[in-house]
This record gives sequence, C-alpha cells and structure tokens, in this order.
Amino acid sequence: SITQRFANSFPHILKMASGQLSRAEALACKGCRHACHVMLYSDTRSQLFGRIPIRHIILMQMRFDGLLGFPGGLVTLSKETLEEGLSRELLEEIGVAVPIAEENHVESCYGPASSSSSSSHLILHFYAKKLEEEQILDIEHSAVSKAADHGHEVLGMVRVPLYQTQGGRGLSSFLSHSFIGNARLQLVDCLLRFGLISAKHLHKALSQAVETHK
Ligand code: GTP
Ligand code: MN
Ligand code: MN
Ligand code: MN
Ligand code: MN
Ligand code: MN
Repeated sequence: SITQRFANSFPHILKMASGQLSRAEALACKGCRHACHVMLYSDTRSQLFGRIPIRHIILMQMRFDGLLGFPGGLVTLSKETLEEGLSRELLEEIGVAVPIAEENHVESCYGPASSSSSSSHLILHFYAKKLEEEQILDIEHSAVSKAADHGHEVLGMVRVPLYQTQGGRGLSSFLSHSFIGNARLQLVDCLLRFGLISAKHLHKALSQAVETHK
C-alpha cells in the first residue's frame, strides 16, 4: 500500500508524527524540559487464591492527583543525566535509588502541549528494568517506610493484575482506571514488548475494558 511504502521510505517522519524521538534527538532539544519514568517488574511463581498464576509483578503508583502512573519525575539536565535524575526520583518516590542505565531506555516522546504558552516543551522518557522478586518486595516495603514522598506526591504503589478472572475482571478492570499522560499506552506497549502477556490475552482484556467499563 501507499502508506506502507511511505513508512519504509520516511520512517523518521512517521516517528515525528506519532510524537516519538530517539534518546539522542531528545537530548539535542536545548529548551526542552525532561521527565523520566520507569516500569520496574519481576517474574513471580506466586498464585492468586492458590490457583491463578500471577506471572509477573509490575509496579505502578497512585499519584497525588488520583491518576495511575509510573515512578519517576522531572530531571534537571544541568545537574544530572537522565538516568541519574530517574534514580534520584526513585529514591524520593519509592525509597530506593534503583540504578538505571541507558540500556533500560524504551522510548522518548513529546508530552502533551503545555497549557501555559510560556513554558517549554516537555519530553517524556520511558524506561523498563527487570528485577528479582525479592528486590520488588523490598521496594514495596521501602515505598511506605522510607520514601520521602509517601503520602504526599505518592499515595501508594500498586501491582498490575495480568490475569483475567472468570467474571472478566483483572487486567481489563485495571486498564479502565485513569492514567497520567500516556502511561496506559506505555504499560500496554511494554506488556507486549517484553512478552509479559500474549497478544491474544491482551486483546481480550482491552476489548473487555471497553465493553464493560466505558
Ligand atoms: P514534582 O517533584 O512535584 O515536580 O513531580 P515529579 O518530578 O515527580 O514529576 P511527575 O512524576 O509528576 O512527572 C512530570 C510530568 O510527567 C507529569 O506532569 C506528567 O505530565 C508526566 N508523567 C508523570 N508520570 C508519567 C507516566 O507514568 N507516564 C508518562 N508518559 N508521563 C508521566
Ligand atoms: Mn481475602
Ligand atoms: Mn517526584
Ligand atoms: Mn513523579
Ligand atoms: Mn521531582
Ligand atoms: Mn517532588
């Protein structure tokens, strides 16, 4: 098709149209503000009710504004790299400065156009890092007992249910909540990207989310 031929010839134009940019392109924007968020996750053998495999623990948080999002925040490039800034935000929000490397980078994109015309573009950088289950459990404890932002910027960490119960609840219900920015899309994208769920299972959960909760 014409669209496909266009996509093959001008991949960068499609990336720009979708708001996506590489880490290097993003860093080249001098006047931009930057925010970094991360999906921390692990495998698990545990089961819900002793029979439904939980498979993976994926950490998100309930933010001060009532929306679900990933831990992380604004980074000051004059003082810290993207990844250092993200680790600092993790210390503030979950009580552990989880080290983040460039290889954990997933994608960068332009944030929503700011309402005040004076403030500069916001670029959102997204990362994912796989941890051991014990590290995730440590983080969940620290998020309450050590994180300076607990009860202020962050109202609590939450795990993403990946299963679908017989009544059609689970992932579909989770996806029906309200998310900050494109956090919902980042979650769905990473579920597929890292093989945390099958495309068929995800498709079912997404259509259930629309049918039962909209
Ligand atoms: P302050 O310390 O109060 O400045 O907050 P922060 O540094 O922790 O910033 P925050 O985490 O709120 O992120 C800054 C901006 O990034 C938000 O206003 C949102 O627009 C956006 N944002 C926050 N969380 C996410 C997320 O999970 N995904 C995406 N795509 N954007 C997010
Ligand atoms: Mn119970
Ligand atoms: Mn923060
Ligand atoms: Mn934050
Ligand atoms: Mn901050
Ligand atoms: Mn803060």
